[in-house]
Amino acid sequence: MEVNDTTFGSRLVSPDAMMGDAEYSLRPHTLEEYIGQEKAKDNLSIYLEAAKMRGEPLDHLLLYGPPGLGKTTLATIVAHEMGVQIRITSGPAIEKPGDLAALLTNLEAGDVLFIDEIHRLSRQVEEVLYPALEDYALDIMIGKGPSAQSIRINLPKFTLIGATTRAGQLTSPLRDRFGVLLKLELYSPEELATIIRRSADILGIDCTADGALALARCSRGTPRVANRLLKRVRDFAQVRGSGIIDAQAAKMALRHMDIDEEGLDQLDRSVLRGIIEVYGGGPVGLDTLAALLGEEAVTLEDVCEPYLMQLGYLTRTPRGRCVTQAAYEHLGLKVPGRLQDDEIHQLSME
Ligand code: ADE
Repeated sequence: MEVNDTTFGSRLVSPDAMMGDAEYSLRPHTLEEYIGQEKAKDNLSIYLEAAKMRGEPLDHLLLYGPPGLGKTTLATIVAHEMGVQIRITSGPAIEKPGDLAALLTNLEAGDVLFIDEIHRLSRQVEEVLYPALEDYALDIMIGKGPSAQSIRINLPKFTLIGATTRAGQLTSPLRDRFGVLLKLELYSPEELATIIRRSADILGIDCTADGALALARCSRGTPRVANRLLKRVRDFAQVRGSGIIDAQAAKMALRHMDIDEEGLDQLDRSVLRGIIEVYGGGPVGLDTLAALLGEEAVTLEDVCEPYLMQLGYLTRTPRGRCVTQAAYEHLGLKVPGRLQDDEIHQLSME
C-alpha cells in the first residue's frame, strides 16, 4: 500500500505499510529475517546500533552490486530498524534540481531517502545533493544576472541510501559523500534454497528441501530470480504434477522454461554461443556482442555477465570478452586445442 504521495515518481512508504503487496510480503522486514550477505549485514547491524545509541540518523549509505540482490529490501530494513519512514525513488525519476528539492523538503527528521540507480542522476541534480548530504542544506538561487542571490534552506537530518549496479559510474564527489559503502554479492545455492523455503512458507507452497535446492541452483545467485522461479514452477506443479515442488517437479518445469541445469537461460547461452561461433571464442568487445545479439550492452553487462563470470564461463580482458574451456564443455561443444593448451600451460605453472 502506498501512502497517498507520489512526488516525482517517489513513494513515501512506512516500512510496515506494504504488508498487502504480494512482492513486498516475500521481503524480510528485519535484519534477522534477512538471509545471506553476512558481511554486509554484520557491519550494517553495528552501524545501526551505534546510530540508535547516539539518537542520530544512520550515515548516508551506498549499496552496490548486480540487480535483484536485495538493495531495496535492505533500505526498507534500515528504515524499519531505525523506526522511520522511507521515500523510494530512482535516479531517472528525478529530472530537475527542483524535483530533488521538493523531495528533500518533504522529508521528516530521521527519514530515509532511497534513490535507486543513483548513477543515473544528472549533473545538475547531483550538485543540489552535495550540500544536502554534507550540511543538510539546500542552496537556492533567487533571481538572475547580477542581482541573483543564493539563499540557504535548512533540511531535517536524513539518511540517503543510494543503490547502484555500477559503483564505478558514480562521480567521485558523490561517492565520497557516503559514509558507508556496502557491496552485495551473489548468493550461494544454499542461501537461495533457504530463501525459497521461506517464500514457499509465506505463499503456502509445498516445496521439499531438494526441490528448493534444485531451484536455487538455477537462480543465478539472485533472490529475485529464485522467487520468480518458485512461482512459475508452482504453476507447472499445480497443472502438470501433484502440486508439490520436489526435485523432479522443479527439473520438469525448468526444462519447459528453457533454463538449463546451471540456471542459464536462452540469452546467457546465446552470449556464449555468439562469442564462440562468430568470434572464435573471443576476445570481442561488449558493444559488438550486444549488436550481434540485438540486446542492450547494459543488459549483457549487468544481468548476464556477473553470473557467467561467477560460473567461470566468461572472462573480461582488456581486449574484450572471452569464453573459457568450461563454457565449451557446458554447451557440449568441442574445446579448441588452443584453450586446452592454455589449461595445460597454466597447470604446469602451478
Ligand atoms: N527474499 C528476498 N531476498 C531475501 C533475503 N535476502 N532473505 C530473506 N528473504 C528474502
